[in-house]
Amino acid sequence: MSARLWMSTAIAVAFLAQNAVSVAADLRIGIITPPPHEWSKTATRVAEDIKAKSGGKINLLVFPSGQLGNEAQMLQQLQSGVLDFAFLTLGEFANRDPNYGALLAPYLVKNVAGARALLKGPAAQELLAGMSKFGVVGLGYGMAGMRQILTAGEVKAAGDLSGKKIRTIPLAPELDFWRMLGSAPTPMPLPAVYDAFANRQIDGMQIDFEGTWNTKYYTNAGTMIASNHMMFPMIAVASARKWAIFSKEDEELIASVMKAQIDQLVASYARIDADYLAKIRTTKVSIVEASRPFFGPAIDRWYSEWRNKAPILKKLEEEAGKL
Ligand code: BEZ
Repeated sequence: MSARLWMSTAIAVAFLAQNAVSVAADLRIGIITPPPHEWSKTATRVAEDIKAKSGGKINLLVFPSGQLGNEAQMLQQLQSGVLDFAFLTLGEFANRDPNYGALLAPYLVKNVAGARALLKGPAAQELLAGMSKFGVVGLGYGMAGMRQILTAGEVKAAGDLSGKKIRTIPLAPELDFWRMLGSAPTPMPLPAVYDAFANRQIDGMQIDFEGTWNTKYYTNAGTMIASNHMMFPMIAVASARKWAIFSKEDEELIASVMKAQIDQLVASYARIDADYLAKIRTTKVSIVEASRPFFGPAIDRWYSEWRNKAPILKKLEEEAGKL
């Protein structure tokens, strides 16, 4: 390449890097949750805030309910730069690198406050910083409600879950947890769960209080095991390809709005969980309060396997032990 051509190419690239957001028409964020879900509401707040703070220059369009595809499809779109942002569960990351699955260790944290603190700690931040290997930039952690168990019939002890088909996300740490309990984990995307439960294709599900109430799963349920057995992190990501052409100023604006809004989301889940549990208590569903001993030796077995599968788990346990 001649020196002159090289210079003009370099100038064009620099120009694009500084101005890409202003020339791009609209940016898009994809989410699998339906519009009433807190993730979707947070995405709308992020869009409003970014628009206001950029003086109307950056217009972020929110696509809830998996309108842009499931998480695997959205990750591909992020990698190719067709999609700009997403709020994603750990699913796609944990199945590529088990260290991300360690964030789903049973009873790693006691509650939402513990989840919030651990997600700000060095081990979780190391995972966030390592997301470039997936072709995305990790902008921060959000979460959904603590995981609970909703079943069709009566459950009084963990033994009652044995042999039962329990809906999970297709995630190795979740599948292992249920297998170790003697249940039959049945991976299923969120939109398929209502019908599967109503038709008894599944006997129960791992879910949160919010989904139980808003999606009316409780109408077909007998028992809610209020176990709080797992935190459920979400990661706000940007397409690394698109991020590379945003100006520094726009990057900082978007990153700071995302960070603040999703941290607010995490903090609010203590109240959200409590509010939805109170609503579920008004229904015919029996509530069984459960803590780690309820699950017997299965959890210790889970940890002894996963400390080998996911080396970061030990660091997370150490940090969690100090909270
Ligand atoms: C679920 O698949 O259970 C789920 C996904 C996103 C947010 C909350 C729950």
